[in-house]
Order: sequence, then structure tokens, then C-alpha cells
Amino acid sequence: MRIQTPMGDFTFDDTGQGRPLVLLHGFPIDRSMWWPVTPLIRDGWRVIAPDLLGLGESPVREQCSIADLADAVFAVLDAIGVRDNIVLGGLSMGGIVCFDAWRRYAHRIAALLLIDTRPNAETAEGRAARYSVAQSVEKDGPKIVADSMRGRLFAPSTPAALQEEWFSRIAAQPRVGAAACARALGDRADSWPTLATINVPTLIIVGDQDAITPPDLAKEMHAKIAASRLAIIKDAGHMPPVEQPSATADAINAFLGQFPG
Ligand code: MLT
Repeated sequence: MRIQTPMGDFTFDDTGQGRPLVLLHGFPIDRSMWWPVTPLIRDGWRVIAPDLLGLGESPVREQCSIADLADAVFAVLDAIGVRDNIVLGGLSMGGIVCFDAWRRYAHRIAALLLIDTRPNAETAEGRAARYSVAQSVEKDGPKIVADSMRGRLFAPSTPAALQEEWFSRIAAQPRVGAAACARALGDRADSWPTLATINVPTLIIVGDQDAITPPDLAKEMHAKIAASRLAIIKDAGHMPPVEQPSATADAINAFLGQFPG
């Protein structure tokens, strides 16, 4: 679906009926990463998965921040009349957007789902590396990001054909938007202090073989978020929703089961 907002026209998937479950994808990919999981989400939930600013079919900006990404998500939610009681989830960069959203839109959020993500800011070196990636992406396209993720994005047991399919999807992302997101990640805030402020039920999911945001990091986040649960997905790397969709959906469904319809 496509919707007009004050921040431009956004594309999103809107499936099912009931309470809103909003899912935010990672970098540099698009809403299609939720397609294997969405059909498995329990009845009574409306799954809304937008393309984040700059990626997929959403508007592209030469410059944006993580806060802009969060604002765009809420602009979409406003435009479709989804105001509150939102279960907000995100994978990796999507999770980083969730931290920002929690700081500014907590009154609209009933629960969080943090999937293979990390709360730290970049170091000076990390920021410089993100800016350098952005420059290369502008020049040569996001395939260089896909190539840099080879051997790290997926569990070794994830079938090669599936891995290649997702590397191709990464390579096909808009280069200006992907570069802007790389810079936004470089400039992101430190969200460690935010974790102690999270007072809604939170599910942390991580692949047992995630080499980018490893299980130990997820355990640290779990220790810092009071009402959190941790689900470790077997035989998954950084992309459990595409590597192990059934196990990921099971974890999400068990978590959603605590909310009345
Ligand atoms: C993601 O999946 O969003 C990326 O791995 C984020 C990152 O590059 O840190």
C-alpha cells in the first residue's frame, strides 16, 4: 500500500486485523524481510511493515537521521489512523529506530520487540567507517555493503541460495537513500541509558549465531530492560525472520499472547 504523509509518500504492508504490530526492517534492506514471518503471526493482530525512509520504495533524502526514520514511521501511522497501543518491533537498524521512538513516542507504545539490534553509539572510528561506506555506496551502490556482510549476515547453515537472494535485495536498494542511512547509523545516539527507561513488556530476539549483534549483547540488553524476555533462535544469524521464520514467529506469538485482544 502507499500513503501520503507530510514526509512524503510511503509504501508499507498492512496485513490482518486487530491490535497494531509495527515491524521495522534493517539496513540496507526493505519491508520484504518481514514477508516470511507476517503470514505466521497469530490472529487478532494487524501487522504494519513500512519501508523506512530512504529504502525500498519510500522517499529518498540525501541526509537523514535515525530520528527522521522514526518520525516517518509515525507519520505513516498517523496517516492510517493508528494512534496508540502499538507493539513496535525492529531488527538491527529497525531496533535502533525503536530506541529513538521510545524516547519520543513512548505514550503510543504498548510493548517493544528488539530483534538482533544494539543500543551503542558509534565510536569515532565507527562513525568514520560509516561515512566511508556511505561514500562508496553513493559511488558504486549498496552491493558493497552486501559484499562486506558475506560470512557475517547469516548463520553458516543458512542455504547459500537464500543468502544470495537477500544479498541481491540489498544490492538493489536506492544508493542515495542507503548512503543517508549509513550516515544516520554513524551519527546515532547512545541508547544504553534508554534501556533503563523502558517500562513496557519487551521481547528481545537474537539468532544464536548472530556475528553482527551477538547473543551476549542481547543478554546485556535483557539485564537492563526490566520487563524483558529473551528468545534465542537456533541456527540463525543476524536475520532470524528470513533464516528461521517459524521459530521467530513462535517467539513473537508467545510474546503477543500476553496482550488482550
Ligand atoms: C542492520 O541489519 O540494520 C545492520 O546490520 C545495521 C548495521 O549495519 O549496524
